Amino acid sequence: MSKSRLDKYEGRYAARVGDMRSSAIRDLMSLTARPEVISLAGGMPATECFPGEVFDRINLHIGANKRALSLQYGPTEGFDFVKDDIAVLLAEEDTAIDPARVLITTGAQQGIDLVTKTFVDPGDIVLAEGPTYAGALATFSTYQADVRHLPMDGDGLVVEELENVLAELEIEGRRPKFLYVVPNFSNPGGTTLSLERRKRLVELAGEKELLVIEDNPYGLLRFAGEPVSTLLSLDRAENVVYLGSFSKIISPGIRTGYLIAPPAIYQKMVFGKQATDLCSSPLNQLFVHEFISSGAWVEYVQRQRSLYLSRRDAMLAALRKEFPPGSTWTVPQGGFFVWATLPEPVHTGDLLVKAIEENVAFVGGAGFFTDGRGTSSMRLSFSGQSEERIREGICRLGGVIREQMGLYEALGFSGRQGESVDRDGGS
Ligand SMILES: Cc1ncc(COP(=O)(O)O)c(C=O)c1O
Repeated sequence: MSKSRLDKYEGRYAARVGDMRSSAIRDLMSLTARPEVISLAGGMPATECFPGEVFDRINLHIGANKRALSLQYGPTEGFDFVKDDIAVLLAEEDTAIDPARVLITTGAQQGIDLVTKTFVDPGDIVLAEGPTYAGALATFSTYQADVRHLPMDGDGLVVEELENVLAELEIEGRRPKFLYVVPNFSNPGGTTLSLERRKRLVELAGEKELLVIEDNPYGLLRFAGEPVSTLLSLDRAENVVYLGSFSKIISPGIRTGYLIAPPAIYQKMVFGKQATDLCSSPLNQLFVHEFISSGAWVEYVQRQRSLYLSRRDAMLAALRKEFPPGSTWTVPQGGFFVWATLPEPVHTGDLLVKAIEENVAFVGGAGFFTDGRGTSSMRLSFSGQSEERIREGICRLGGVIREQMGLYEALGFSGRQGESVDRDGGS
């Protein structure tokens, strides 16, 4: 290696830097930015559908009436009028909240960071679904958490297994700092935690005093099936910290989310946020307020739901046509993602290199686990591409998979059926 490429700071970095990992999705973004690439990788909302006249009206209104406020520092907790908007939104999910318990964050990602910063010391156990949101894993590893994955099936997290894990940890004299779950249309699994399991989870949290982090950025993007109560609404014992986001129902560019926490935890999060960024952007909070309080969000969310439903259906139909026998996949009732599992020994990490050559991208399943699992799975996002491009993308992917399977056959590897974690009716 040439001298200029040596890192002169080597040896001075904090220990945690060694545990930091980049999210597989962020890494892919530079490769998939080329227009010829059909990216089924990033979880991109269809922001091109954002109503232009509403955008202009809100910006003009803020410029004319709220300029000084929008350009000033704001309270760390966020503006009260935005907290009231959040109470209105959560009522849509049948969840009554006290706005005083809302902390506005710079995206739900900051909520994950604040919770982890507040609770996790190096080596502490964090429980999470397997697979789980890669951005949360990046945060957990930055704080050097010991992440233990819990199994999932078609009804989301297997809560009975959580009971077993908690019992085993109790014998070892260890206690997890919290459980992180994405109960609605999970990222990446696309599954939804059943009501029965939610009730049992909240009950168990009460029995074991387990803190549960409910991350629900997709809840309002249900396009099929019946809504299921949030964990927050079922919790009577203040064991749930709830994370929400405007990224999916307004825009990720607005970088505004929120968390709702029991009072004791709330104040610690406020201190943590002060140390991170003082406050979330007042300008963006004003935009959120105008969009939500004017009711403009209702039509936008409805439009998104029907768009995502047709895109999901286009993807499922293409998977049925193009993916080899033995493959399985989830059938999400909302959100952005399908989780597909291929017959072994197909390795989706190897497959991705070839797929990108063919100008199609997905996220390999291993990025959603910390323990090396998920190598025969992939996350496919249907939110950000037209139906036509989804069909074309899955068709190209089918070709790449067949080619790799042909190669394995020629080399004498025997195939196995897809992993049993798959669910929701497979194909
Ligand atoms: C489950 C989950 N949580 C949190 C986030 C981060 O959201 P935000 O853009 O609000 O930071 C995402 C983004 O994709 C997500 O899927």
